[in-house]
Amino acid sequence: MLRHLARSVSAAALAALVSLAAAPALHAADNERPRVAILATGGTIAGVQAHPGAAAYKPGVLTLDHLLAQLPGLDQVARLEGEQVANIASQDITAELWLRLARRAAAHLADPAVSGVVITHGTDTMEESAWLLRLVLRSEKPVVLTGAMLPATHPQADGPVNLRSAVAVAASPAARGYGPLLLLNGELHPARDVRKTATEAIDTFQSPNDLPVGAASPAGPSFSVSASSIRPAPGGGFDLAALDADALPRVVIVAAHGDADGSVVDALLALPAERRPAGIVLAGVGNGNASAPLLAALERASSAGIVVVRSSRTGRGLVDRNLEVDDDRLGWIAARALSPQKARILLVLGLTRTRDLAELQRLFDEA
Ligand code: DGL
Repeated sequence: MLRHLARSVSAAALAALVSLAAAPALHAADNERPRVAILATGGTIAGVQAHPGAAAYKPGVLTLDHLLAQLPGLDQVARLEGEQVANIASQDITAELWLRLARRAAAHLADPAVSGVVITHGTDTMEESAWLLRLVLRSEKPVVLTGAMLPATHPQADGPVNLRSAVAVAASPAARGYGPLLLLNGELHPARDVRKTATEAIDTFQSPNDLPVGAASPAGPSFSVSASSIRPAPGGGFDLAALDADALPRVVIVAAHGDADGSVVDALLALPAERRPAGIVLAGVGNGNASAPLLAALERASSAGIVVVRSSRTGRGLVDRNLEVDDDRLGWIAARALSPQKARILLVLGLTRTRDLAELQRLFDEA
């Protein structure tokens, strides 16, 4: 049919016809288009360069309204309802903002008319937000976190295609049941394993232990594994309503390295009791290892009642109990698949439920 038309219409008109025929339901009736909530928090996707061509830029400048104005036709894919929850560089995210974001997402997910939620977010801590949401949200509906590695004013800005794809995924019934998904560069990553692995590469997000669960484009998702293969939230997840940002246990990460002493841990122990952390996550070398002086300092910390979890700086593989470190004797926990930053979040929430070491280890085994 299009070939027949080719003799009677201009190339531009033909191109328009082809794009119209190929685009998904661009003019579906109002009641047919799914509703998608978009929660904006800032990041590079909302970033602005100091001047055209500048490497320097400021994240968290443009509002969601401005970002959507750059995406004509997006409202034909889904009926959009936007909310500017924050406008920050994501390295500044806080427990208060995490819980506020989770509560806003939960509220939209509870609306029967909403098909899914998109969260625009800085990439620096996007993996942590995705994991936190995995632990506290209970909906089967898709929650898609996306952002950008290049600012909105950059000629090759990747934010627009990421946001178009994220809306299409959040609008798709095929995306139900995967838990929060992180979408950048056309890849869909579940929350547990995904991590930012490069400072500037467009394909920075990788899931070294799990691999992506599918691909996505502005036409929607294509999953390579079923939602039933996604690991459930450990311990059945946590009750968001019961969490108070001001009362969350404080957990810090201590890095192991060559020639490490125990001074950082001893400085924590020297703090007044009320300022000491409830937990320490070791970002260990190799399989969650550390130098003898650092291990000794951590033993002093656990003797003082601080819960110690061993994770690894390596970025891939599992940290297992009792390999080079006698976790049973020390009363420590092995982080298994969780990176130090995600182990920290699970320990924070785990300590709101229990201080039983066996129960805490079970949470990490289930993660
Ligand atoms: N400061 C970083 C952040 O907001 C910018 C990186 C980005 O969003 O890609 O996470």
